[in-house]
Amino acid sequence: MAENLLVFKNITKTYPWVTALSDVMVEIRKGEAHALIGENGAGKSTLIKTCTGAVAPDSGKIIINGVEFSALTPKLAKENGIAVIYQEFNLVGELSVAENIFLGRALRKGIRIDRRAMEREAAIIFKRFKINIRPDSKVKDLTVGYQQIVEIAKAVSQKSTILIMNEPSASLTDQEVEGMFGIVDQLKAQGVTIIYISHRLEEIFRLCDRVTIMRDGCFIETLNTANTKVNHLVTGMVGRELKETYPARTSPVSDDVILEAKNLCWNGLHNISFKLRRGEVLGLGGLIGAGRTELAELIFRSKTKTSGEILIKNSLSHCKTPQAAIKQGIALATEDRKHQGALLDIDIKGNISMAILNRIAVLSVINKSKERNIAESYKTDLLIKTPSVLQKVKNLSG
Ligand SMILES: Nc1ncnc2c1ncn2[C@@H]1O[C@H](COP(=O)(O)OP(=O)(O)OP(=O)(O)O)[C@@H](O)[C@H]1O
Ligand SMILES: [Mg+2]
Repeated sequence: MAENLLVFKNITKTYPWVTALSDVMVEIRKGEAHALIGENGAGKSTLIKTCTGAVAPDSGKIIINGVEFSALTPKLAKENGIAVIYQEFNLVGELSVAENIFLGRALRKGIRIDRRAMEREAAIIFKRFKINIRPDSKVKDLTVGYQQIVEIAKAVSQKSTILIMNEPSASLTDQEVEGMFGIVDQLKAQGVTIIYISHRLEEIFRLCDRVTIMRDGCFIETLNTANTKVNHLVTGMVGRELKETYPARTSPVSDDVILEAKNLCWNGLHNISFKLRRGEVLGLGGLIGAGRTELAELIFRSKTKTSGEILIKNSLSHCKTPQAAIKQGIALATEDRKHQGALLDIDIKGNISMAILNRIAVLSVINKSKERNIAESYKTDLLIKTPSVLQKVKNLSG
């Protein structure tokens, strides 16, 4: 029998109106890569937070290497070799890459902080990743993808025995994901135990020895990936059988060109031209740094020193402000939701209505029932997993 390194024993955690975890039992074996899967709101992050000390369970035990804890603190978790790469970034934008990696445990020479040594160490990790990040650059100047890699480097540098990765690949391109897998394989070979959360099931088969399925805060089952089929996992996650993973698209595409870019140039973008037709889904592909985000931002809001043309419904348009873009019927779902998209301390209904206040306010007074109704209808249509649209957005799952 393989030895258990980390056991979640009958863990329950409730929030007002929500049972995030209900009597969950998961055993993580020494040296394995163990996937944790489940739909949005299934309880994956909450379970992880109980063993990093971010959340105290209402009941149950966490057993690390045979030692029982009814709750952990971040310090205790670290002392017990647990490191986590959060789903939401946890970096300090104004500090350098190296300073972020060594945050709270700076390398010193005598009493002075040894910046050079930290940058050297960081460079060694990036070399293993085969990723070109300058350890002295400020984190806020990096793309989201690179920031994610800094997060990984930070956890790797702590030489932990249990590395928890909460959707580390969400903002990485295929090539970078492969690079990250290489690192995970290396860490595994060194005996590090990995807990891997991802919505991309193919990654789980590529990377993980076993997989635990969660649904609605409950443990469903733990399986060996080698003799498990994708369909079985999907059925376990949603609780019913799904016929098609990707149903055929039914929305018609017309010939009307609704948005056209002609020779757009700005900040690393050179002569971008494309036509978008009504009803069409146009993918923007490219590696991190290729300019996808910049292009999306440019359509939403023109910048100084832009050249080229954007036509909306065949007439020339440069949206000077996001309001102008919204008026033209353009919406931007930002890449970095925590900083650019959502106001975490505001409730769900307030976030939903934020961009359409002109439609729901009369003489600058918000029509509360209208706002509530709109939010309720999106909650239903988009299956937003929350007991109430009056919840703060920060209490939602990822
Ligand atoms: N601080 C909180 N206050 C209230 N409810 C919370 C809080 N944290 C989590 N929840 C709720 O607990 C449930 C489980 O959330 P959790 O974040 O663990 O889901 P998840 O499986 O990680 O989902 P995702 O894949 O979307 O990240 C959700 O319904 C969520 O809204
Ligand atoms: Mg989560």
